[in-house]
Amino acid sequence: MLDVLPRLPDDPILGLAAACRADPNPQKVDLTLGIYMDDEGVCPVFGAISEAQTALVAEEISKAYLPPAGVADFNNGMQRLVLGQDSAALADGRVSSIQAPGGCGALRIGAEIIQAAAPGAKVWVSDPTWPVHIPLLGSVGLTFETYRYYDASTHGVNFDAMVEDLKQAGSGDLVLLHGCCHNPCGADLSMDQWETIGSMAEAQGFMPFIDIAYQGLGDGLEADAAGLRHLAARLPEMIVAASCSKNMGLYRERTGCTIFLCKDKDNADALLSQAKVAARRVYSMPPAHGALLAGRVLADAALTSQWQDELETMCARINGLRSDLVLKLQEATGRDFEFIRKEKGMFSFLGLSADQVKDLREKHSVYMLGSSRINVAGVNSRNIDYLAKAIADVI
Ligand code: LMR
Repeated sequence: MLDVLPRLPDDPILGLAAACRADPNPQKVDLTLGIYMDDEGVCPVFGAISEAQTALVAEEISKAYLPPAGVADFNNGMQRLVLGQDSAALADGRVSSIQAPGGCGALRIGAEIIQAAAPGAKVWVSDPTWPVHIPLLGSVGLTFETYRYYDASTHGVNFDAMVEDLKQAGSGDLVLLHGCCHNPCGADLSMDQWETIGSMAEAQGFMPFIDIAYQGLGDGLEADAAGLRHLAARLPEMIVAASCSKNMGLYRERTGCTIFLCKDKDNADALLSQAKVAARRVYSMPPAHGALLAGRVLADAALTSQWQDELETMCARINGLRSDLVLKLQEATGRDFEFIRKEKGMFSFLGLSADQVKDLREKHSVYMLGSSRINVAGVNSRNIDYLAKAIADVI
């Protein structure tokens, strides 16, 4: 029975990261997977998380299951972090949330709920989007349409085309939006553009489904959630999948949360009951460690402030690397790379061809995705000159 299954190709992101790990070249540069790395090339543990962990380990007397919705301090903290302390929806009690295994688990629970409410519903996804979105949501039974988003010639959002395409999104459709720091292109909507999407959602009746995996890595925790909060303030319903992988460095701890913004409190309670049943059916119980740590950080003012300072330092380093990269690439190639400075978060599309990306990998051991998406945080003071020269060589 099992021998009918063929070997599948490697994941487009994880396969490249593995190829880079296996490359013996000491000068190799890993710009593949979206993880933050410091100037030593290490993905660090936040000091605030370390402190929370020391306290947790000292106090923990049991590894019994968590309740099905997860850690209460985590859920409450995430609702406030994402929707804002002064969110009217929170004050009205029309929000519920469930802890999920990472941002992916959060997306999956969102998809399960959508499929239960409207089987086979159409989800509009940006072109391009994170390659896991479609298989992750589609395996539940949702269907897809794409809307144009990134314009390679301007290195920015083609908002006219996005609006043109989303005019066809109707009542019962979902529009998947990246809350901030678009993955893969780094080009985000302006506040005016979020407002236009809000007006379209009101007029046409589609529901936003927001993936926010990089809050705090673009313009800061508050600014990065401003578009999402604008929609939350004017729309009756919305689903948000939030992740602490990047902004708390909890990648392997699978720490995420699905937030339901509903018409009223009864509906929010009903959605939570649905989400618990969906989780039970898919993976049964939430993982504990990451959410216990994040919950502690979010519930303790001193740890919250320490974490925010660390996150700001991280974000400033990424933005500094963007400026350094612009200068080094302009020096090495004579071309204009100013667009890198304007993008948000960890990623940038360099605009290289698939052949140039392949040459970089084969001739210089520089690894990036086939689309020429780079993880800017993979650049450091030791590899930046080598990287710029290698790129100049292939173009
Ligand atoms: C990425 O896009 O590199 C990250 O979101 C990690 C992943 O799981 O793909």
